[in-house]
Amino acid sequence: HKFDVCVVGSCNVDLISYVNRTPKIGETIEGNKFEKGFGGKGANQCVQAAKLDGKVAMIAKLGDDVFGQDYLENLKKLGVNTDHVLVTKEAATGVAPIIVDKEGWLVCLVALIFIYSCLSGRNSIIVILGANLLLNEDDIQKAEDVIRQSKVVVCQLEIRQETVAKTFEIARKHSVLTILNPAPMSEKLDRNLLKMADVICPNQTEAEILCDRSVETIEDAKDACKKLLELGSRIAIITMGEQGAVILDESGQCEHVKIEKCSSVCDSTGAGDSFVGTLALLMASEKKLTLKEQVKRACRVASQSVEKKGTQTSYPSKDELRFNLFE
Ligand code: RIB
Ligand code: NA
Repeated sequence: HKFDVCVVGSCNVDLISYVNRTPKIGETIEGNKFEKGFGGKGANQCVQAAKLDGKVAMIAKLGDDVFGQDYLENLKKLGVNTDHVLVTKEAATGVAPIIVDKEGWLVCLVALIFIYSCLSGRNSIIVILGANLLLNEDDIQKAEDVIRQSKVVVCQLEIRQETVAKTFEIARKHSVLTILNPAPMSEKLDRNLLKMADVICPNQTEAEILCDRSVETIEDAKDACKKLLELGSRIAIITMGEQGAVILDESGQCEHVKIEKCSSVCDSTGAGDSFVGTLALLMASEKKLTLKEQVKRACRVASQSVEKKGTQTSYPSKDELRFNLFE
């Protein structure tokens, strides 16, 4: 195999405003800081795997504009194979205006040192997908060789569902493991996609829509995992935020993967993508690890990403990890 992970998905330029609180309708507020960064769920996942030294390829579509040129350069710098990162004149590069709030500062006096913590760092995101929506079945067909030479293929839902279906069809043909991260989830999801993915990996709210039930507790998530397998996947992984994750594979044994509490949450934007990218890489390269261990390690990488601002810039590289990811 030439690649560990191939991601077929979105590239967006993130336009992030850091504010004390989200403005109300009709209100103008002053923000604290603005930052531009590289994002998009697909590229985020790909970049996280690349930063952990995975051999990765991205299949995507950018606009013929400054954002698109910058984006391509970013991917190349990170060592991502971009042979199938296409450029179109028909639409602009995807953008994502994001608001990250700060619910309040907790200031503690410890030995006369002020330590700031408890930045809540919640985010709201708007995506304007532009060129991402022009990535089509034909483009995927032309990338068959890259898919064939990958161990794992990952898709999300910031590109057209038909494009995802074509990707999974080609991956199946060559026995490449497929992961679907159904984000952002839409009520209009073609349920056939669930049958075409080996692994389905939603978060709590996405699982609620997929399974048409509430997913609050670990018990709820266990039931939802069973439902997801009935809907057609081989492996279900529901991420539960601070509660960790719940997994179910063909063994029929549902398991709860617990995580340690994050030390300081600064910006949680893209943490879910850090998780999926890491998981994909571990599934490709660390087959000896149990699924539970893979999920646990992916959670730890993602929780390290929330300590820093931004999306891809906050993802830890292999050297920055505080634990051993590979053994
Ligand atoms: O999951 C986070 C990502 O969602 C951001 O980078 C933004 O671009 C949107 O796609
Ligand atoms: Na972050």
